Amino acid sequence: MGDGRSRLIVGISGATGAILGVRLLQVLQSSEVETHLVLSKWGVRTLAHETPYSLEQVQQMATHHYPPQDEGAAISSGSFLTRGMVVCPCSVRSVAAIANGHGDNLIHRAADVVLKERRKLVLVVREAPLNDVHLENMLKLSRMGVVIFPPVPAFYTHPKTAEDIVDQIVNRWDGTMSMTGSPSAETMHPRVRKRQTGRRKAAQG
Ligand SMILES: Cc1cc2nc3c(=O)[nH]c(=O)nc-3n(C[C@H](O)[C@H](O)[C@H](O)COP(=O)(O)O)c2cc1C
Repeated sequence: MGDGRSRLIVGISGATGAILGVRLLQVLQSSEVETHLVLSKWGVRTLAHETPYSLEQVQQMATHHYPPQDEGAAISSGSFLTRGMVVCPCSVRSVAAIANGHGDNLIHRAADVVLKERRKLVLVVREAPLNDVHLENMLKLSRMGVVIFPPVPAFYTHPKTAEDIVDQIVNRWDGTMSMTGSPSAETMHPRVRKRQTGRRKAAQG
């Protein structure tokens, strides 16, 4: 789509939970969304450490991918139209770089562009516990309209496996970003699921 409405930049930085970024790409693969992927150096390290996927396999899940040092990539420019960007997972180092506008890789530059163009930015920030610097950086970004989205599991879906937890988090993100338009009912809060099912039945007559 030429106006960028279905283009999404996906960053995977070096916080634990690389599988969240992988699952996100898999979900987007089966949609109309055109993904532009960057893994930071430490994102590559956590991917290898925590998942069975190779860098090449993950890159193939995206429509386009770029090396983190390529700050001349299309996504470095505001004239390259996108819906926005999600960094999933997002380290507190990347949060600090984005909050203070002095990043040194393409994830930071692309996020800076998304901010200056007033597009949507979602940061799946993963760190615990959080210190004042982390919290202040997140508050600063939140006040600029950034969605701070820690990958916190919900237990009302009765997850049985780690995959269930990952799916619930990624699905919840999809609902926030409205990218695929089809978040799965199994991962919703029971009351929301009930209301959705009722509406669907009413529409069917
Ligand atoms: C296995 C592993 C797990 C890590 N987990 C986290 C984490 O959960 N949160 C975080 O902020 N940093 C975490 N780090 C540290 C970051 O990778 C490190 O601060 C790095 O400089 C982040 O750079 P990046 O944001 O460019 O990827 C982890 C590092 C490793 C090797």
